[in-house]
Amino acid sequence: MLSLITGLHAVGNHPAGWRHPNAWTDTVMNLEQGIHVAKTAERGLFDMLFISDGNGVPSMDAPEMLEANCITVKPAVFEPVTFLSALAMHTSQIGLLATATTTYEEPFTLARKFASLDHLSKGRACWNVVTSSNPLDSLNFGKDEHLARYDRYERAQEFVDVCKGLWDSWAEDAFLQDKASGRYLDISRVHTLDHHGKHFKIKGPLNAARPPQGYPVLFSAGQSEPGRELAASIADCMFCATPTKELALAFYGDMKARAQQHGRDASELRVFPGAVIYAAETQAEAEDNFAEMQALITPSVGVLNLSHYVDMDLTGYAPDDLFPPLTEDGVGGSSRRYAIAAVAHAEKLTIRQTYERFLPSFGHVVMIGDAKKIADEIEDWYASGACDGFNVHVGYQPDGLDRFVDHVVPELQRRGIYKKEYGPGTLREKLGLTLPPNPFFEAKRDAAE
Ligand SMILES: Cc1cc2nc3c(=O)[nH]c(=O)nc-3n(C[C@H](O)[C@H](O)[C@H](O)COP(=O)(O)O)c2cc1C
Repeated sequence: MLSLITGLHAVGNHPAGWRHPNAWTDTVMNLEQGIHVAKTAERGLFDMLFISDGNGVPSMDAPEMLEANCITVKPAVFEPVTFLSALAMHTSQIGLLATATTTYEEPFTLARKFASLDHLSKGRACWNVVTSSNPLDSLNFGKDEHLARYDRYERAQEFVDVCKGLWDSWAEDAFLQDKASGRYLDISRVHTLDHHGKHFKIKGPLNAARPPQGYPVLFSAGQSEPGRELAASIADCMFCATPTKELALAFYGDMKARAQQHGRDASELRVFPGAVIYAAETQAEAEDNFAEMQALITPSVGVLNLSHYVDMDLTGYAPDDLFPPLTEDGVGGSSRRYAIAAVAHAEKLTIRQTYERFLPSFGHVVMIGDAKKIADEIEDWYASGACDGFNVHVGYQPDGLDRFVDHVVPELQRRGIYKKEYGPGTLREKLGLTLPPNPFFEAKRDAAE
């Protein structure tokens, strides 16, 4: 069955969508709007609610872009685990997917936060494991520059291994709470990690009981070589930015093969391309609505924003120059730059055509239309084996998600590719993912038998 994820930012995803007359105002750290989006997503039976994140204000080096509010990671936002903890109290089924960086967080505190989120949401926590795509984040953590990509991913691997070890601190039956005997705890049912690695030295145990899901559902989003390897070894699900079905098919095949090389079943790693969806009741209405947003992108915003996504300065070129060859990789994110440049070069697009094409999509496929047209595209990708589901982005809120839920969801259900109700249990159970056994106590039990 197709799975769907959607983002939580109340401002939406089109670079100028927030300027649309119907778009929400007062979107800065607005809890009520978050609750509205979460409830709409749950009404549409979405599997997960996603918050992207960074640990600094992005693009402080490009203030014009920041002023125009044209980047996907916004400058003033709730901390994701905190925000999702609040939303857990207003929802009951949807997965709560928070981004957190392994480059600047500490495993002990982060493992504790996700364990808490998983407990208080009754098994709905997910963690988007990122290594931080904004190099400037380093300046907030006592470092003059971002860690190099391979070093970030090496640290990420150890970070996740350590978190798993910490989540495994307590056996499920450790907390006896036996009033009659006076024993609260069975101390033989705790495991002290005592980790001494290249990046971390952690005693343990974690001061949180094992999460209901064992481990939160683990996501990853990197598309570079080390990014893919990390996902193949640790992720239950991953995001990707693949603007065409062909690129998505290649990515999907590659990731499933890598998961198998890591000794996993290919079905244990789910792949979610982003899709930016501009839906309406009729095709004409959807196209008009999209054109209204496009008309709100100015050339300076267009060029600056594209520079951000391809990680190179395009301001020295005229908007009608051909999209130039890519400069060498910086230390930041690479996922989207190659995807965008591949299409721009293949189709000989100018910089203006490239930003008009990609800013509404930021490297993902764009679907504009009525329920039938959008469901056709979704079904085509899914049936072709290009994805296990989609991360649905919308232009602005609340219309974007409302329209998807009201028009597209019923059409997907009618075609039998999307669920009609939530399944029982934790998010892992709903997704059909295995509950990770606790290796420390399984081994002891096996030995005792
Ligand atoms: C859908 C999607 C969501 C992402 N969300 C975040 C995010 O919230 N924070 C972040 O730092 N990077 C985010 N990224 C970027 C990836 O983590 C990025 O690829 C990585 O930081 C750099 O890895 P790479 O070199 O393997 O591409 C996201 C990427 C995609 C495709």
